[in-house]
Amino acid sequence: MRTKLHPQSDTDGLLTQIGELSESTDMPVYAVGGFVRDCLLNHPVDEIDFVVIGDGPQFASNACKAMKGHGWVVYKKFGTASFMVDNFRLEFVTARKEIYQADSRNPEVLSTDLAEDLSRRDFTVNTMAMHLDTKHFGLIIDPFKGKKDIKKKLIRTPLDPVQTFSEDPLRIMRAARFASQLQFEIHPDALQAMQMERERLKIVSQERITAELLKILSHPRPSIGLRILQKTQVFEIIFPEISALVGIEQRDTYHHKDVFEHTMKVLDNVAAVSDNLLLRFSALVHDIGKPRVKRFVDDIGWTFHGHEVTGVRMLKPIAQKLKLSNEYQKYSREMTRLHMRPIQLIGEDVTDSAIRRLIVDSGDKLEDLMTLCRADITSGNPNRVKRHLTNFDYVAKRIEEVEEKDRMRAFQSPVRGDEIMKAMEIQPGPYVGIFKRRIEEAILEGIIPNEHDAAFNFLHQIKEDVLSE
Ligand code: CTP
Repeated sequence: MRTKLHPQSDTDGLLTQIGELSESTDMPVYAVGGFVRDCLLNHPVDEIDFVVIGDGPQFASNACKAMKGHGWVVYKKFGTASFMVDNFRLEFVTARKEIYQADSRNPEVLSTDLAEDLSRRDFTVNTMAMHLDTKHFGLIIDPFKGKKDIKKKLIRTPLDPVQTFSEDPLRIMRAARFASQLQFEIHPDALQAMQMERERLKIVSQERITAELLKILSHPRPSIGLRILQKTQVFEIIFPEISALVGIEQRDTYHHKDVFEHTMKVLDNVAAVSDNLLLRFSALVHDIGKPRVKRFVDDIGWTFHGHEVTGVRMLKPIAQKLKLSNEYQKYSREMTRLHMRPIQLIGEDVTDSAIRRLIVDSGDKLEDLMTLCRADITSGNPNRVKRHLTNFDYVAKRIEEVEEKDRMRAFQSPVRGDEIMKAMEIQPGPYVGIFKRRIEEAILEGIIPNEHDAAFNFLHQIKEDVLSE
């Protein structure tokens, strides 16, 4: 069945132009994939994919000239080309099928017709195409019932899922990513195929896998995609240190919390208040050292002493393997190293210098560290959560107080000692300090502004008073 789509009005003009060009060059062109999906979902778009029944790069080159596009990029080998118009990237691809051989990272690309091109795409929600010609403009071709799956909030493959995932194993990651991004379910058959085909991810480049992982982290509830990677045992292949967090052990009457479940909660808590991807990644790995240091101590239960130190050590090779930037490595190691510190500062008898050490050690990451630590409170008991959060408020207050004190200590009278001695006609001695302090207090009390001349005048006003004491 064909349905008429109403594309977002700001893309209407562009699409009409492409449609006219397609008619004049006699080369059928359709808008496809994510663009059609996002229009149906009413999501904003910044990229439009087109499929060309013919030479994609050739059509794109004509379109780029006609539309005065910029930022031209072409991959002849893959039959794709793209350029920018206004704020949209327009991406053109020759109708094609890509086939990965069993042991190859690079697909073989063969051209084909629209029906086969759509069938070789990843998920039904991405297999819709939209007519651009004058007569049928806005009609969508939906051979795999993508529209229905959008309604059902379902990720399903157009072909047998084993074939779809085997042809391009990166789609295993993409399925989990779309589940997080769209908050859709994955069809059970697809889930099963993801698990079956997971080993094939080994032929995909690490950069592409990591890019999808970071995309999962960037969505509002990252735990949706990560739980899928866990359930399908994909983490065992791409990030075994995360799957090692799974499991609850029972000894005597003690059981320790499932660290994976705890991590998912911490991550979603962080994601609810911060878009910072570095912080979200740190939330994912902050307890990564726990499985290696866990110990059962009689009468105490499970302990994880030093897990932050072990975590920091583990994160270097992990970041290298994931091909993460140095910034990710440095930031996540810092957060992991420090994540137990604020909680240790709870209590009346903590000295200013302990607080000051945390301020200095965490530097510009202090606020992020406090966000992570608050997110780290995942107890199921609401009273306990409340008590812990109140304790954190207390630590935050102490930090503020110490910072304020330090600011005051750094603050000095704008009139210096030599000048005081000369103006007050006094010798070095305790009076110099007394004058200085009186000026500083007057500034802090807001009696005079923090300026030299005001302080100098004030000095003369208090002269008699001070010297007669
Ligand atoms: N596609 C595919 N298999 C892949 C990658 C892409 O079948 N491994 C197809 C899908 O039809 C997809 C289209 O190519 O819709 C464009 O891919 P891409 O731009 O990566 O994804 P979008 O669906 O546009 O989504 P987003 O922009 O949110 O990543």
